[in-house]
Amino acid sequence: MAKEEQYKELVAQVAAVVADETDMIANMANVAAILHEAFGFWWTGFYRVQNTDRFADRVQTELVLGPFQGPLACTRIPFGKGVCGTAWAKNETVIVPNVHEFAGHIACSSESNSEIVVPVRQNGEVIAVLDIDSKDFDTFDETDQKYLEEIVDCLSGGTEML
Ligand code: SME
Repeated sequence: MAKEEQYKELVAQVAAVVADETDMIANMANVAAILHEAFGFWWTGFYRVQNTDRFADRVQTELVLGPFQGPLACTRIPFGKGVCGTAWAKNETVIVPNVHEFAGHIACSSESNSEIVVPVRQNGEVIAVLDIDSKDFDTFDETDQKYLEEIVDCLSGGTEML
């Protein structure tokens, strides 16, 4: 099946799965599973924007690892750092055809060669990012961007939480 057709089915599936569930973590977990199973990505998951007081003198806002499928990953990513922090800072999807050429890329796994990061927004503000890694180079294009953006919209559309 062509990628676009596959994504259309997945958008419908995600919309149905999240329709009756208001818990954001539960919905993120199912979205990660659905995408990971469908496409066989190397790593598929979420980082959530969280305020953390682990520094004694100040509260810092950073990305914290959320529900995912795939191998162990780094747990915290600062604003503007790596592909994830860049997508957060720019509030836009970032496609990286070759992660080794992305200045500041955070290598959670040496097996990853290309990546896409899609912001999850609530009222226009980034509350999380969807991060997908591939073992192949140049895996992601505008079709992935279009449908993954639709998928994360389903996620934040009906819920008021985090
Ligand atoms: N490569 C990401 C870090 C997260 S892992 O890929 C799961 C980045 O540069 O932000």
